[in-house]
Amino acid sequence: MAQERIAAARNRAAELRRELDEHNYRYYVLDAPSVPDAEYDRLMRELVELETRHPELVTTESPTQRVGAEPLAAFTEVEHLEPMLSLGNAFDAQEVHDFDRRLRELLDVVEIDYVTEPKLDGLAVSLTYHDGRLTVAATRGDGRRGEEVTQNVRTIRGIPLRLRGDVPPLLEVRGEVFMTRSGFVEYNRQAEARGEKPFVNPRNAAAGSLRQLDPVVTAQRPLNFCAYGVGRVDAELPGRHSEVLQRLRDWGLPSSGEVEVVCGSDGCLAYHAAMLERRDALDFDIDGVVYKVDRRDWQTELGQVARAPRWAIAHKFPAQEELTRLLDVDFQVGRTGVLTPVARLEPVFVGGVTVTNATLHNMDEIARKDVRIGDTVSVRRAGDVIPEIVGVVAERRDGGERAVELPPACPVCGSALVRDEEASAVRCSGGLYCPAQRKQAIRHFASRLAMDIEGLGDKLVDQLVDAGLVASVADLYRLDVEALAGLERMGEKSAQNLVAALERSKATTLPRFLFALGIREVGESTARALATQFGDLPALREADVEALQQVPDVGPVVAQHVAAFFAESHNREVIEALRALGVRWQSHEPRPAADADAPLAGSSVVLTGTLEAMPRTEAKARLQALGAKVAGSVSKKTAFVIAGSEAGSKLAKATELGVEVLDEADFLERLAIWERD
Ligand code: IVH
Repeated sequence: MAQERIAAARNRAAELRRELDEHNYRYYVLDAPSVPDAEYDRLMRELVELETRHPELVTTESPTQRVGAEPLAAFTEVEHLEPMLSLGNAFDAQEVHDFDRRLRELLDVVEIDYVTEPKLDGLAVSLTYHDGRLTVAATRGDGRRGEEVTQNVRTIRGIPLRLRGDVPPLLEVRGEVFMTRSGFVEYNRQAEARGEKPFVNPRNAAAGSLRQLDPVVTAQRPLNFCAYGVGRVDAELPGRHSEVLQRLRDWGLPSSGEVEVVCGSDGCLAYHAAMLERRDALDFDIDGVVYKVDRRDWQTELGQVARAPRWAIAHKFPAQEELTRLLDVDFQVGRTGVLTPVARLEPVFVGGVTVTNATLHNMDEIARKDVRIGDTVSVRRAGDVIPEIVGVVAERRDGGERAVELPPACPVCGSALVRDEEASAVRCSGGLYCPAQRKQAIRHFASRLAMDIEGLGDKLVDQLVDAGLVASVADLYRLDVEALAGLERMGEKSAQNLVAALERSKATTLPRFLFALGIREVGESTARALATQFGDLPALREADVEALQQVPDVGPVVAQHVAAFFAESHNREVIEALRALGVRWQSHEPRPAADADAPLAGSSVVLTGTLEAMPRTEAKARLQALGAKVAGSVSKKTAFVIAGSEAGSKLAKATELGVEVLDEADFLERLAIWERD
């Protein structure tokens, strides 16, 4: 009887392992998950329970045994069965043509097929499988001997502990352990929330995670694996590298989905160009592509020189990260007065261009990264984003570095600085008195999505403000050809064109105009929402904070900014002047109030905390569609408060006033009923 039970448990455990392995294979190798995560978790829980009840059924390859080992005192060395080679590099098209010509001459053939692969930016590992079981995993080390990291590698879910199908008695798999960009960003976010130091880039994150003595730590890091070749294999392999990669996939080992077989150096270069184009859109860092002769008999014939195979080459991309020196830090004043520290760098070629400036975001960022003037810093430029300083090489300090300090006053206009704790920003209090803010406000006003004044570029705005011709945006419409033509580098014709463009821009729309005003936190979509709700400017101008918050997308902070903007007499004057100068738009009817029979007509509702099921903006819009007024603060008149997770003072206030509180589940349930009615 007992024996039957144990046999049943053994069978079930085997079945669960098979299913779990199958799901892993579909997820990591085929990139086609067959079940939702929750189902995977359910199977896993069942297996854990079964193994807890029957510890004798546990096997080393059970998916429950990925994290098992005790922390190590130190890493041990292992010898690779076949050396782990490195790759020669090509940096331009000529070097790729030379490579191909050299190989064709050596092989005495007219054409060579190459397998092209992304060159993943992680760290190389060798996995040894005996009879299909993962027995040893090691880092590259010096190529002959590496460090044993088996227990850490076992925690990487993409790496099978047991191979599928007809497996060789011995197999050394070579590949890259890496972290995806999304995994890296998410990991850093959590690390920072815990007060830990974030990783500088995904490569360092992967390397740091694999070299942990405690596998429990590694298990928490989002590591991935991609196989790109083999070392020693005690079995017959197919004749082409592309087929070997497929064989590895059949055995359950993930390899890149970006692999292609191409013809000759032209095929290689086309692949390089296509990958370079897609580089920023990928979810993993690559520092180039690799070309490998597809035919394995030709690989053997070509052999190797020093530590690199003759039959393969890495074609590098321009580096996206380089080291240079931080010469100084200046502070730029933005449109809303925020001071942004800008790093002045010793010129450095990175991401395909020479970079001399990089953003440092804000003072908190400088403190967090401990950046000092004179430091050797790592500069990153990816795609079209502004170059940034990712970290400091503290080991290169010589003691002569000095701290970055905030200037005592606005570097442009000398006004006092104020700290905005919430936005971790420092602002110039000069407002439009400050020429820097004025210039930015005018640039924004003229920009394409705002008033769209063609030909009014940044340089010209600087000139107009510096020459005292334009102090406010209204002054733009007071410019004439004569005044403009007097400016440096401005001919009669350009002056005429600009005046015509200004004239054209006067016929605009209310959303564009509102956006152009540059009200803090009012982007394009908020401007559109405000215009829809109020229909025209007078109604918006008179709206109080409470009324503003009825606009979908507008919370207490934005409402405050909008109200404060229109309360400022200077702003009202500029708007009047603009209208008097001919700026116009079509007004329309304000959005109709929800009908009086709506389920929540006339009730005031407060949202607080975080909802899991939908963003706050959506909850608000749906409540408003039901006729509710969504308010920012709780009072006796509040019909009810919807409290998501981490609700704070508003929840306390509701309890104190005896206002009804709905948790998220209550809310969703009632929402379904109201929306059905
Ligand atoms: S093949 C036989 N293929 O680049 C040649 N390496 O400098 C051995 N790497 O240590 C390497 N992606 O860490 C190869 N698709 C790929 C690769 C790749 C990244 C790394 C690997 C190796 C280094 C060679």
